[in-house]
Amino acid sequence: MTAIHFTLNGEDRSVDVPPEMRLIDLLRENLDVTASKKACGIGRCGACMVLRNGTPANACLLMMWQVEGTDIITPEGLDAVPESTFVRQGLIEENAFQCGYCAPGFTITLTALLRETDDPGEAEIREALGGNLCRCTGYHSIIRGAVRAVTLKAANALPGD
Ligand code: FES
Ligand code: FES
Repeated sequence: MTAIHFTLNGEDRSVDVPPEMRLIDLLRENLDVTASKKACGIGRCGACMVLRNGTPANACLLMMWQVEGTDIITPEGLDAVPESTFVRQGLIEENAFQCGYCAPGFTITLTALLRETDDPGEAEIREALGGNLCRCTGYHSIIRGAVRAVTLKAANALPGD
């Protein structure tokens, strides 16, 4: 066991875990933080996506020793990231999801994109979402929702923009 210290959704956390334990397992099995899903478990689908120091990362590939000292935001913590408001609103307006299993991961990725890029076009959106799969294959509505999120952000410039 190793003591790991990190920030989870704005709170300091300290856990005693095997260093090779995967973050997604800690979140879902030990901490009851379940919005990030475990699907493929091998970094192919994006269902487990979290923000690690502001960058999207697959929690199924992150071992706990890699989490030491980092800032982790899961879908539960997205209220602290202003851009997520536009992402969620855009996805809702376009009825982007069917079962919604993939939705948390898509929301994490798109929130990071809107933080990093002022006015991403459809090509940039599609590239950013390359690591997110939707088993219901509703990609057209997801892309429409993402484009709508960009429009909403442009119409509601954030403080400091
Ligand atoms: S569960 Fe992590 S990428 Fe699929
Ligand atoms: S909406 Fe069902 S997996 Fe994406």
